[in-house]
This record gives sequence, structure tokens and C-alpha cells, in this order.
Amino acid sequence: MPVSLRSAMTLVTMSISAMLSTGLAMNPLSAQVPKANEDESLVSMSPLPDPLLSKDGTKITDAAQWPAQREYLANLIAEHEYGFAPQEKAIVTWDLVEQGLMNDNKTKRQQFVVHLKSKEAAIDVDLVLFLPNSEVKSKGCFLGLNFQGNHTVASDPAIRLPKSWVANDPKIGVTANQATEAARGGQSDRWPIAEINARGYSVATAYYGDLDPDFDDQFANGVHSLFPSHKATKEHPNRWGSIAGWAWGLSRLMDVLVEQPSIDANRVAVIGHSRLGKTALWAGVTDPRFSIVIANNSGCGGAALERRNFGETVFRINTSFPHWFNPNFKQYNQNESAMPFDQHTVVACIAPRPVYIASATKDLWADPKGEYLGGWYATPVYKLLGFDGLPSETPPPADQSVGDRVGYHNRTGSHDILLFDWQQYMNFADRHWK
Ligand code: GCU
Repeated sequence: MPVSLRSAMTLVTMSISAMLSTGLAMNPLSAQVPKANEDESLVSMSPLPDPLLSKDGTKITDAAQWPAQREYLANLIAEHEYGFAPQEKAIVTWDLVEQGLMNDNKTKRQQFVVHLKSKEAAIDVDLVLFLPNSEVKSKGCFLGLNFQGNHTVASDPAIRLPKSWVANDPKIGVTANQATEAARGGQSDRWPIAEINARGYSVATAYYGDLDPDFDDQFANGVHSLFPSHKATKEHPNRWGSIAGWAWGLSRLMDVLVEQPSIDANRVAVIGHSRLGKTALWAGVTDPRFSIVIANNSGCGGAALERRNFGETVFRINTSFPHWFNPNFKQYNQNESAMPFDQHTVVACIAPRPVYIASATKDLWADPKGEYLGGWYATPVYKLLGFDGLPSETPPPADQSVGDRVGYHNRTGSHDILLFDWQQYMNFADRHWK
């Protein structure tokens, strides 16, 4: 961290209420954290590693060198941040357990149970697919995980409740870590299914806790339980954390989608909001079958540059959510300038595929400018490959979508994913999937 910024941050012991407001509720008593900076004038960023610089220090200048460079960078990021998924494959099978029409008769609903099996264990994941009722094959599909269960994305009574662990939240009727009817449809603002279907697209979603319950259990449950000998430990600090687990899970759901006659395997976008936006980016890096990648309000550990130290920082995210990243990532707490890459490198590893990054004006915790710059500093890679990325170093005004192969907008409002965001994503998909 630049000295000027570090000295501007006083070490404070945060009150529990301040921690709750900044997302630090999981480790309230032990955390001694620097005050979050949300003042642009205090940002002084150390130089960013160049994604076009190869391992031997020479700059790549030919598009033909990109696949090898991309592999080198993706391995570097896995090693130091999200962690490597196991090489061993899981057996993936699925059952179509229910299908029908939604109330408005415009949407066809299909529910699958996806079985993931290894030599050691087996887990089930509920996947729901919403297809336009009018088309044989939809124009493309958006696949994303949801936060509270498939039944929360629409009020349709047929959608199954998850059986897996759900974070307690009395507001949504969860007091014993089990989903209840109370939350049905509660996240429908985030999943404008009718509007998406009306534009000819389908949506597929699964509850992220089916893949890995979101708490620190030392990587024992969820997808990690399938490969117990591949656990991240002190001896193996480069192995998968939860974000890598969720991303791996998205690939397994993709395995199922490509077998569906209603889905065009070349037109599946991976999408996610917030921690699931970080996950969508990493899924996009690790699985080239995702032809478009969309990271909504992905912030720290997502598209936002860590070296800016704006809003949430590496230290804060590693303290509040120690299980999201691999143990190696902890060495960059208050030491971001030592990272051999930054989040623009993660974005660049999606090239040449289209990637869309979005912010919200009030979401300073996720650092809208840092998210934009994550795309801007990936743009030279797109240029080398013959495409335009973002148009300028200066972010656009609110609510204006910019960029070609790298898209961006900053929606007026708070941390969320709303119809306006989806409309930009569908416009982007119309353009790239034409
Ligand atoms: C917290 C966390 C963010 C994350 C967000 C979310 O605010 O600090 O990094 O993006 O939760 O996933 O909702």
C-alpha cells in the first residue's frame, strides 16, 4: 500500500455496529482493521502488473501468444487468490424432476436435480431453468447462482425449496438454517424472468449454498467434501476456497445445460452479483465455455483493483470471509502491491470473450471507479486480440452503458442487481450473440 494512503488510515477497533454496516459481522470481536477509505483524493495506486508481460519478462506483442500467456496468468491467480480446483473429475448426472408453465403462461419452468459424485462423496444441487414459452431454442441463456434459494427468485409455488444450509435471517423466515416458504419470491426484483424471457433469453439458476454453504468450516462441506484429499491447508495453501468452489459448481451446471435441447451451448452467459459476481468472473476465467461473463457489483476480489484500497480491501475481505479465497491470499493483507497481478488481470483472462462489469453509484464499498478500471486496464489485451474494450480511462456518467468487448455501466442507486442492469446485459448479449 502506498505510504500516503496507509498513513491516512488510522488503525481503529471497529464497533460492532460499524462492522455490521461494512460487512464485517462475521469476525466482530477480533478484528482490528483500518478504517475503510471512501475518499478518492486519498487513492494513490502503486503500479499495476502488465497482463501482457510474460513469465520471462518480455512483452507479448502477437495475438498468437495470448493463449499461453492467459494460461500462465490464470494459474498465477489460482495460486495466489482463489485456489486451484481439483484435477479429478466429478461424475455429473441429472434428473428432470418437474416442469410446467409459470402463472403468466409465458415462461416454461424446468427443475432438475443435479447429482455430483466423486469416489468419496455425493451432493445434490437443485437447478431451475426458465425458458420463453414461445421459442424452440432460446436466443441464449444467463446462468447465475442465487443467494437464498431457487424459490426466492419467483413467487411461483412450484419452485422447490433448498434442503441445504441457509444463513439465519428472521426477515426471510430462516431461524434454523433451513429455507422456509416466507422467502418465496423475495428476490424476484433481482431476477426479472418475464422481461428476460420476453427478449427471447432463458435464465438458469441454483442456490449457491447447495454448492458450498457460505461459512468458514475449513473447506469441509459442499463441493469441497467431494475431494477431501484436495483440501486447502497450511501445507497446501493454493487450493480452492469457496469462490473457486462456487465457480467450479457453475461449470458442473454448465455440463447439464449443454445437454438440454433448449439450450445453445455456444450462448451461455455466466452472471453474478456481489460475491457471486466475483464468482462469475472466476468461472469465466476457468471455463471458456461461458461465452459472455457478467460481474455485477463484484467489488473487492471481483473487478475492482485491489491496489486502490478503496472501500473493501484485501485485509477486510480476508478477515470477514476467510473461506472465500485460498490461504495464500492472506499474505496480501495490507500488502496489495506485492500481488503479482491485480483484478484487471482476472478480467483480462476472459479475453477474447466479451465481459461486462457493472457498478452502482452508492455502492462505494465495491469501489465503482476501481471496477471500471479493472475493465480499462484489461483493455490492452482485447486490443492486442483485435477488439475494442472500454473507450477511455475516465468512467462514464451514471446510467450510461459504454464499451465494446468490455462493457460497463454505473447504475444510479445501491448495491443490487435490478431490471436496468439486466437490460444492459441483454443489449450486450444481443450485440455479441447476433
Ligand atoms: C459483503 C462483502 C462483499 C460482497 C458482499 C455480497 O458486503 O464485503 O465483498 O460482495 O458482501 O456478496 O453481498
